[in-house]
Amino acid sequence: MKSLMKRILFGDRNQHGGTQKEIRVNIYEEAKQCLLCQDAPCTKACRRGDPARAIRAIRFDNHKPALRWVKDCSDADLLRAERACIHYNGPIRIKEMLRSIHPDDVDDSHYPSLDITFCGIHCENPFFLASSAVCTNYEMVARAFEAGWAGVFYKTICMQEIKEVSPRFDAMHNSATHGDFYGFRNMEQLSENPVEMDFDILRRLKQNYPTKVVVASIMGQTEEEWMKLAKMAEEAGCDAVELNFSCPQMKHKGMGSDVGQSPELVKTFTACVKQSVKIPVIPKMTPNITHITEPAEACVQAGADAISAINTIKSVTMSVSSEVTGQRTISGYSGRAVKPIALRHILELAQMSNIRCQTSNIELSGIGGIETWRDALEFIQLGCANVQVCTAVMQYGYRIIDDLILGMQRYLTKRGMTSMQSLVGELLLKFMNPDHLDRETIIYPRFDKALCVGCGRCEVSCSDGGHQAIVFDHDTRQPRLVGTKCVGCHLCRLVCPAGAIGMTKRVNKKK
Ligand SMILES: Cc1cc2nc3c(=O)[nH]c(=O)nc-3n(C[C@H](O)[C@H](O)[C@H](O)COP(=O)(O)O)c2cc1C
Ligand code: SF4
Ligand code: SF4
Repeated sequence: MKSLMKRILFGDRNQHGGTQKEIRVNIYEEAKQCLLCQDAPCTKACRRGDPARAIRAIRFDNHKPALRWVKDCSDADLLRAERACIHYNGPIRIKEMLRSIHPDDVDDSHYPSLDITFCGIHCENPFFLASSAVCTNYEMVARAFEAGWAGVFYKTICMQEIKEVSPRFDAMHNSATHGDFYGFRNMEQLSENPVEMDFDILRRLKQNYPTKVVVASIMGQTEEEWMKLAKMAEEAGCDAVELNFSCPQMKHKGMGSDVGQSPELVKTFTACVKQSVKIPVIPKMTPNITHITEPAEACVQAGADAISAINTIKSVTMSVSSEVTGQRTISGYSGRAVKPIALRHILELAQMSNIRCQTSNIELSGIGGIETWRDALEFIQLGCANVQVCTAVMQYGYRIIDDLILGMQRYLTKRGMTSMQSLVGELLLKFMNPDHLDRETIIYPRFDKALCVGCGRCEVSCSDGGHQAIVFDHDTRQPRLVGTKCVGCHLCRLVCPAGAIGMTKRVNKKK
């Protein structure tokens, strides 16, 4: 574990520029600095490889296979790429970063297919675009399909006139770094296109991409509207219809998450849609509710074939630049920050539908903060046979599908599995009530002196937010654990910026 940490977090130790000074590269941190340029200057300068693609693989949790894009590159090629880098703070350390990675240990000649069945529909992989700004016209969806996305939940279609505000987004950035945000707030409502135009787009998409899955997301205001929109979706050749019960910022009364919070209303609308079409019906749940299972169960009783969750979380951000002519409103939060909340809702839905016992055929489509294949895997292991992505595509583009597919294929290969289906719900049984958790044993933090940079952050946090169990030697700048005081909370490990704190074996607590 120790050597793995060294290798993964920092790469191997290298000699730098002929001097004796040892340097370590945290490949993830370095890759995170990369601007992920379009038509990347580094790659253009490199000649024999694609360093930008290699860095993107590291950035999206595929550091091991990253080397395949630079396998023919000499150090001179990588240095040339580095010199061409346009980063405003100075070039990304391309050579050191890539030379720190060990060759892939997974044989890529027999990657399994990622195909999976969702609502009885064959999907070439579980990755779909979520209904949103990433899929509002034919050309966008066509490009996403060409890139490798298996399907689309198209931007929600309704019969009301939609006029959006400007600006309509705000973002929570990591420190001052623009472009890289962990949370995203949007005030967008539904499709601004005429209804007929959107269904024509869906018809053409299905005709031209028959193996891709086209789902119409719809929102009605009355039973008649719900039924009419669903029928239009079926007539356009859509594979399924998603019922948007969850937009948190609808201007019109009786639409969006107002409806989604009422089990009676969602039951009525789901039932009338079910009566009017034969294609699968997938209600989309709002997270802005205490018990998501209540409306979901009502939908299942009304015949829903699957449930998708979550839509955005009601939120407020305070930046003046996101005001609309001096005014503000509550609106939906998405992106990386919402993933744990989305996972909790998925867990509750999976437990409700008893997927683990295979006694119910209600399926789940997971949404909320998915950026990398590991994020997607978490939703799948909690019971989702399908996952949807919005904010990460808005940030990084359709190209993230490359690493979603690659990472999942490598993961299956590493585990000796041949089917995606076997991952669905495999971690559900690990979840139990807090009163069942083991409270008699402890795991201590273990400090790795070779990795410690002597910042003292572990001591600061343990002193002020923990149990005063770390002593920091100001001369040697080394932390020392006082075992008798340590409660094994692992705050120190989580704050250590150098990855220098690991874990011991679990042992019985001292009486
Ligand atoms: C700009 C924007 C527009 C959205 N529009 C819709 C929509 O029309 N219909 C819908 O069901 N959800 C809509 N959503 C919600 C997303 O489909 C998704 O449920 C949510 O953003 C969480 O996923 P994410 O963290 O991957 O973005 C929108 C989200 C954003 C950010
Ligand atoms: S030019 Fe620099 S910032 Fe742009 S993709 Fe290449 S390494 Fe990243
Ligand atoms: S936080 Fe990590 S790097 Fe900093 S002193 Fe503690 S162990 Fe060392």
